[in-house]
Amino acid sequence: MTHKIAVLAGDGIGPEVCEWAQRSLELIARGFNHEFEFSAALLGHAAIQASGEALPATTLNRCRAADAILLGAVGDPSYDNNPTATVRPEQGLLALRSALGLYCNLRPIRIFDELLHASSLKPECLQGADILFFRELTGGIYFGEHQQSADGQTASDLMVYTKAEVERIAHQAFKAAQRRQRKVHSVDKANVLAASRLWRATVNEVAQAYPQVEVIHQYVDNAAMQLIRQPKQFDVVLTGNMFCDILTDAASQITGSLGMLPSASIGDRWGMYEPIHGSAPDIAGRNIANPLATILSAAMLLEFSFDMKEESEVLIGSVEEVLQQGYRTADIASPDTAIEQILSTSEMGGKVLEVLESKLFQSVVI
Ligand code: IPM
Ligand code: MG
Repeated sequence: MTHKIAVLAGDGIGPEVCEWAQRSLELIARGFNHEFEFSAALLGHAAIQASGEALPATTLNRCRAADAILLGAVGDPSYDNNPTATVRPEQGLLALRSALGLYCNLRPIRIFDELLHASSLKPECLQGADILFFRELTGGIYFGEHQQSADGQTASDLMVYTKAEVERIAHQAFKAAQRRQRKVHSVDKANVLAASRLWRATVNEVAQAYPQVEVIHQYVDNAAMQLIRQPKQFDVVLTGNMFCDILTDAASQITGSLGMLPSASIGDRWGMYEPIHGSAPDIAGRNIANPLATILSAAMLLEFSFDMKEESEVLIGSVEEVLQQGYRTADIASPDTAIEQILSTSEMGGKVLEVLESKLFQSVVI
C-alpha cells in the first residue's frame, strides 16, 4: 500500500527544514518496507510569486489527493508593512486548514532533558513538564469577518464560536486527558468575551461525559503567567485559535526553543504536520535553522496519519540520541556547547539520518 504525502515546504526556512523531515521519512520507509510517495506543491509567498494565489487550486487538490501533508512554514517580510496587500502568504495556510477541516491542532510541549539549560527558565521549574495543547484551528477570531472602513480609520475582527465547534475539540482534549494525567485546563477570557462564556459553558457540558477528568478554567492572561511560573501544573490545555497561537509560542521556551516544537492538525479525513515556528526570514537561506521541529512533526505524521507508532518512536529516539551526543543547532546551544558541536541545518539533519540509519539497519554481529 502506498502512502501519499504532500510536501508544502513554503517560504523562508521552510524548504531547508522540510528537506530533512522528508529524508527522515524516506529512510523510515526503507527501514520498515513502506512505500511513501511524496509530491511537492507551492503555498504562501512562493505560491503568490508563481501564480498570484497563496493557495493555488493545484496545491489544494494535491493535498486532497494525499493521505497526509508535511508543511514547512509560510510568511514573508515584504507583506509586513504593506497593509494594502490583498493577498498574503498566511491566507494560504488558513485557507488550507479550513478547506481540509483541520479543526484540531495538537501541540505537545515535551522537554528533552539535554535541553534543560537551553531555556531561559530555571531547569528545576521545567524538569518533568509535559503539556499537550489542543488548539481549535478553524474557528474563532482567525475566521470571523475581518473589516476595514472605507476611510481607513476603523478595523475590526469578529470572534465567533459555535457550540458545535467547541464541543468537537473539547471531546478530543478530554479523550487525550483520559490517557494522560486526567487534567484539562480550559483557557478563555470569559470575564470579558461572550465567545469565551459560550466556550466555558460548552466545555463544562462536555466534561460531564468524562467524570474522571478534572477541569480547571483559567483566564488566558493568568494562564500565560502560570505557564512560565509553574509549567508542571498543566497536563492538557484546551483553548481557542488565537489564545493558543500566543500561548504555545510562550510555552516553546519551556522546551528551550521554538525550533523544537512540532504540531499536528487533524480533521476527520486529513492530517497536516508542521513545526510551530514560522518562516524565520531573518535566518532563511543561511543553513542555520533548526530542522528538529519539522523532523518531530514527521514523527507525528507517522503516528497520527499512518498509525505507525514504532516508526514514529524510532525517529523521535534518533533526535533524542543526537541531542544526547551533545549536538545542537545555534538556537538550542548553551554557552558551554563546544563550537564543533554547534551544527548547521544540514549537519543536524545529517546527524539525525545517521543515527536513524544505524537504528534501522543495525547488523547483528555474532
Ligand atoms: C502558527 C502560525 C500561524 C498562525 C501563522 C503563520 C498564520 O503562527 O501556526 O502558530 O497564527 O496560526
Ligand atoms: Mg503561531
